Amino acid sequence: GQSIHYEESVESTQKIAHRLAYDQAAEGTVVVAEEQVAGRGRMDRVWHSPKYTGVWMSIILRPNIPIPKAPQLTLLAAVAVVQAIEEVTTVTPQIKWPNDILINGKKVTGILTELQAEADRINSVIIGIGINVNQQMEDYPEELRTIATSLSIESGKRINRADLIRSAFNRLEHLYELYLEKGFLPIKLLWESYAISIGKMITARTLSGSIRGRALGITEDGVLKIEDTEGIVHQVYSADIEL
Ligand code: BTN
Repeated sequence: GQSIHYEESVESTQKIAHRLAYDQAAEGTVVVAEEQVAGRGRMDRVWHSPKYTGVWMSIILRPNIPIPKAPQLTLLAAVAVVQAIEEVTTVTPQIKWPNDILINGKKVTGILTELQAEADRINSVIIGIGINVNQQMEDYPEELRTIATSLSIESGKRINRADLIRSAFNRLEHLYELYLEKGFLPIKLLWESYAISIGKMITARTLSGSIRGRALGITEDGVLKIEDTEGIVHQVYSADIEL
């Protein structure tokens, strides 16, 4: 059945979750680690995951949805983490599409969603969540200091990581049930209520080039819509966004 795998030190919780999912782990199985020595971010980046200071975890879901709808679950996870942060701290985070959670413009959480699929069916969705919790500014390497922050830096308090994990799981479970019952619309509305870039001029850097325009919102599938200066609406599946 569903289980929690707690580890002291791992390469990446994503890697362990992938193996568990491959071995038919039940939906709701989670992997949590105190430290990752090879944490991974989106677009092949490294995710800095020092010991005892953050929440590094991966969750296995097995929704019965077609592959193009998988981005919806990234957005769902982002809403769950924002709500958990609001519950456990006094700060109000915002979401930058698709999955960065920011406080005062600096990144406090990243989410990496990966799939295992056969033909065109999803076998499992592995949602990796990294939350910077008790790091202090001097713990960050120089190059991250202007772009990264932690809940402790922003709230001026030490945060209990177990409380945060518990809250995140509860929110995730609640939103996932809502999603299975009512579809993506209620999640989309919540997501948009926390989003910073909607309605603003942004630049989306994709692997095939940049698009500059106004972010209109997200589609039913969770894909970003951008209207460029010529009035052409683009759908962006994966990109880095600059405001
Ligand atoms: C990003 O913003 O680029 C996504 C970062 C995702 C980090 C989390 S930490 C837990 C899980 N294991 C990993 O190796 N990465 C994700």
